[in-house]
Amino acid sequence: MVEKTFIMVKPDGLQRALVGDIISRFENKGLKLVALKLLLLDRERAEHHYAAHQKKSFYDALIEFITSGPVVAMVWEADNAVYIGRKLTGPTTPNEAPPGTIRGDYCLNTQFNVIHASDSVENARREIDIFFQPQEIIRYDRSIKHWLGLDGMEPAL
Ligand code: CMP
Repeated sequence: MVEKTFIMVKPDGLQRALVGDIISRFENKGLKLVALKLLLLDRERAEHHYAAHQKKSFYDALIEFITSGPVVAMVWEADNAVYIGRKLTGPTTPNEAPPGTIRGDYCLNTQFNVIHASDSVENARREIDIFFQPQEIIRYDRSIKHWLGLDGMEPAL
C-alpha cells in the first residue's frame, strides 16, 4: 500500500552537514519526496510532536535539543514507506544500529541521533499534520517510476 512517512533531520544532522546524504539515501532507495521545509521548531510544536514521551526522563532534554537549531522536515512516499523509512534510519539506540543505516553510520548517542522517522502509519499521519498544511504535500508524476518497478503503484495525479 502506498504510504507517506514523516522524516526529520534533527539539529545535529544540520550542524554536521548530513542533510544531503540523508536525502540521497531516500532518493537512491526510490522513495518519492512530496514535501520538504527547513524550520526552527518552537516549544509548542516540539511538545506536540513528542507528546508520547512527555513522562520520560529524557523529555526536557529532548525538547531543548530539538528546538536548539534548524531541522529539515520531509514527507516521503512509497509502498511501505513507514517500514522502509525505519529500515534506512536504523534503531534508536546507535549501538544497535547496523552499519549501512543512517544512525549506524553517523551516531554515537541516543539523543543526538540525527534523524526522526515515523514508527507507524498512524503516527506518520499525525506528524505530517503537525508540520505541513495539506496544500504543502505535492502531488506529481515521476518519469523514472517505470524503472523502479512502480508502474500503476504511485497514486495518479
Ligand atoms: P526519535 O526517533 O526522534 O524519538 C524520540 C527521541 O527521543 C529519540 O529519537 C531520541 O532522540 C530521544 N531518546 C529516546 N530515548 C532516549 C534516551 N534513553 N535518552 C535520551 N534521548 C532519548
